[in-house]
Amino acid sequence: MKLSFTINNKIHEIEASPGDTLLKALRSLGYFGVKHGCETGECGACTVLLDGKPVNSCVFLAAQADGRLIQTIESVGEHPVQGWRETGGLHPLQQAFIESGAIQCGYCTPAQVLAAKELLQRNPSPNEDDVREALSGVLCRCTGYLKPVQAVLRAAAVMRGEAVEPVGGYPPAEMPVTAPPEWLPGEGGPLPPAGDEPSGVVQTSTRIMPRIQVAPETEAWQRVGKPEPKVDSVKLVQGKPAFTADFEKRDMLVAKVLWSPVAHARIKRIDASRARELPGVAAVLTWQDIPRVVYSTAGQSDPIPGPLDCFSLDNKVRFAGDRVAFVAAETEEIALQALKLIDVEYEPLPILLDPAQAMLPEAPRIHDEPEYVNFADSDPSRNLAAHIRIDIGDVEKGFAEADEIFEGDYEVPKVQQAHIEPHVVVTYWDEDDRLVIRTSTQVPFHVRRQLAPVLGLPVKRIRVIKPRIGGGFGGKQEVMIEDVAAHLTIATGRPVIFEYTREEEFIAARSRHPMRIHMKTGVKRDGTITANSMYALSDTGAYGCHALTVTGNTGHKAMALYVGDGAYRLSPNIRFYADVVYTNHPPAGAFRGYGVPQGFWPVERHMEKIARKLNLDPIEFRLKNALRAGELQPFSTAWSEGREARPETIETCGLEECVRQGRAVIGWDQKYPDPRWHQVPGKPYLRRGFGVALVMQGTAIPYLDMGAASIKMNEDGSFNLLVGATDLGTGSDTVLAQMAAEVLGVPLEDIIVYSSDTDFTPFDKGAYASSTTYISGAAVVRAAEQAAERIRIRAAHMLNQDLAEGMSPVEPAGILLANRLAVAPGDRSVTLAEVARNALHHENQEQIMGIGSYMSPVAPPPFAAQFAEVTVDTETGQVVVEKLVMAVDSGVIVNPITASGQIEGGMVQALGYAVCEEMRYDEYGRARERDLTGYHIYRSNEMPELQVIFVETFEPSHPFGVKAVAEIPMDGVAPAVGNAILDACGAQIDENPATPERVWRSLRTLVA
Ligand code: FES
Ligand code: FES
Repeated sequence: MKLSFTINNKIHEIEASPGDTLLKALRSLGYFGVKHGCETGECGACTVLLDGKPVNSCVFLAAQADGRLIQTIESVGEHPVQGWRETGGLHPLQQAFIESGAIQCGYCTPAQVLAAKELLQRNPSPNEDDVREALSGVLCRCTGYLKPVQAVLRAAAVMRGEAVEPVGGYPPAEMPVTAPPEWLPGEGGPLPPAGDEPSGVVQTSTRIMPRIQVAPETEAWQRVGKPEPKVDSVKLVQGKPAFTADFEKRDMLVAKVLWSPVAHARIKRIDASRARELPGVAAVLTWQDIPRVVYSTAGQSDPIPGPLDCFSLDNKVRFAGDRVAFVAAETEEIALQALKLIDVEYEPLPILLDPAQAMLPEAPRIHDEPEYVNFADSDPSRNLAAHIRIDIGDVEKGFAEADEIFEGDYEVPKVQQAHIEPHVVVTYWDEDDRLVIRTSTQVPFHVRRQLAPVLGLPVKRIRVIKPRIGGGFGGKQEVMIEDVAAHLTIATGRPVIFEYTREEEFIAARSRHPMRIHMKTGVKRDGTITANSMYALSDTGAYGCHALTVTGNTGHKAMALYVGDGAYRLSPNIRFYADVVYTNHPPAGAFRGYGVPQGFWPVERHMEKIARKLNLDPIEFRLKNALRAGELQPFSTAWSEGREARPETIETCGLEECVRQGRAVIGWDQKYPDPRWHQVPGKPYLRRGFGVALVMQGTAIPYLDMGAASIKMNEDGSFNLLVGATDLGTGSDTVLAQMAAEVLGVPLEDIIVYSSDTDFTPFDKGAYASSTTYISGAAVVRAAEQAAERIRIRAAHMLNQDLAEGMSPVEPAGILLANRLAVAPGDRSVTLAEVARNALHHENQEQIMGIGSYMSPVAPPPFAAQFAEVTVDTETGQVVVEKLVMAVDSGVIVNPITASGQIEGGMVQALGYAVCEEMRYDEYGRARERDLTGYHIYRSNEMPELQVIFVETFEPSHPFGVKAVAEIPMDGVAPAVGNAILDACGAQIDENPATPERVWRSLRTLVA
């Protein structure tokens, strides 16, 4: 049918099918700012304004829009200067989103801007609730919504003609404790009225900058430590076609996969002939059509620390959602039709869903293929993907010396990364017959290395391009989709796009490992821990991707925090045993935090119970036993992901200061001990509570993961920084550019970052293990220092050419690079542009450039204190998390806006883990949660108050003193919330999330 719309004031006429959505029509016309995140109207990424009102274009038929006015992000504003053409510039909303740090991956940003634009049109003076309501239709998995809300309020003020605070006017170093003196620890004093906050605590609606304790080393820095806007924010806020799916290629085929409907079966017979005959089908591939190459989908450095246990296609399926066949067709509709024409006869096998049963000797084997390659202690004959036994000190002796032994069982669920951009890849042959894989991945170099044997191509004939990524959170540290499109491109010779639907994300993508955990802890009456032991039974699902390393991390980080006190501190007794078991659940994998959130749930719930049982202050008990600077990370002496362990001393630990700051901000010392505060006047069924959890993470993987960077000087004194590191929305491109700019003495706008392309950028292990700022950052500093050295030599030569009599010659080492100048003592200088032109055109010509790589011998842990305030309805079990405060020691913070955004967004993901996110399966192993309605992630109008405090320490192993920031916010929220529920009403929640039913049931046991 013929349709006509006015899009952004331009009339378009198109031919569409009756079932075509408006989303499809708009994207086919090149409006790529309209994003796909689901097919069911739940995520809001596809929002456009239709006759001025926001609609979800994925559930709106193109035919319904016939004759109507449509506005997309492309019409909202543009770069203020386009060569000689001056433009109207960015809209105040776009400007505010950039300045406020409201953009992380940017995938939801066009929709948020449009939703906010509509709000400001009808209400120029919205309050925070109005803004949260207006944004509530657009899910954001990155930001925690705090900064987008602030951005809208800021834009509203600008549009009303009001002055706004400059971004970057963050409070001075001594600002953090802002509560009145009578509220400070030990001072006592009256309680405020219920629900009120002490004056001086900054409210979410006005605050842009987090609190920071500045390490003195940072004071002279110009770019590092500053709240610079993200280098990619201007393109993202305009909805430019920056993502994988925003790429057009002539004759592109659409790929679809036939997923197994059963959890465990052999494929007795498969017949694709009817599908192949369907007009418009270009290829159908089954296991009979492609080489049988065993590999692992875990995107990790070589050798992959896990078993090789999967094939692109196999004659056996191991979970409901496993692959059965690939189809490439001219359209999505034809591909879907073709899937229905593939005849498959399954021979059912027993389904194993309980990891304890799967380990029994009589259990059927999930992996009986002869090609299986073991790693370390994997043993497919016992359905064991990994087996970990770590003993530090003498745990039995420690238990014998304890006054009390505490044991407990805990459980953590399977949860989803739920990045709003689904997994998506485009593959094609280039003109040199090299296979190009343009993919939304965290690990482009691992994709190239791991797929080469699977595709029968040498590494040199594969080029992997990583465009912008719409969030990953570990879900894209998996080589999980690229082979599908690549096999189909090889089969057809044509470009292929393959993109998961939201349902496919739930049934076929990776997730967090669910675990059952037993804790046993020996404690003296004074609160000294004498021995601590954990056993984790981890369900890796059908494949062992990340099985050893994720579960190893559960112990390696969470069990390392409490070493004991006195003699036990010098020689801690810690045991961590784990079995990582194959079942017929969908495979687990990497998810932000990488096993550590699973560990801190039991550890911190257990510590709370012990402190209460022994009548000890829960915070003092923790600090008494917690790891300190100058001590060995205990696990570093015993384990290193199946490689040689190397002892590592903790150089910096700001944990005590984190506790001091966090407890002051949340008002712990006044509220926690006061029974009156725990009650809500007039509502006897409501109870309030506080909870705390102390946590630590790691920074990178020592002696293994390497990052590299190259930097090249241009004629105008600007620089191209090429990094293999992958910015998933974390802001890593920005912080890497800030480090280069600091070394080279230029503003951030003079650093043009490109990441990443295996043909052009140096190697980088990719974005995982909280390593980019630390590892890739150190590589950038090395590369920039090399270039700076060449600049100094040339500048000295230039300055010495017209040396006046009596002046001493300039030495390169005496030259300072700052403000785009090379400045010699005596204030003589040349501009960097003059240096560059001299180098490229005038004398002794050379390309000034530098290259650096870095691998770390240490993994300095960040530490944090997480506080939570909850209200529990004791009649329904409903838990409302009112406030989350996290004080974090992540070393020096390179960019406080991007870093606080990471912490806020991470806390909100962790909040889902605490109270509502859970993937469940029926008795046949079929997923119950298949969309973003069944699987609830937080919306902007459901949020607690969030507060981030940075306690900066200077990590000496990094040139700018940094440690990791990205993963630690995942670790403490769930146990802090669990502990707050206990404080509020006595309910013991040992299995998260704390759903109303679990809380209610626990409360019933108290009554009984
Ligand atoms: S609501 Fe339309 S893509 Fe999700
Ligand atoms: S910035 Fe909102 S989904 Fe990533």
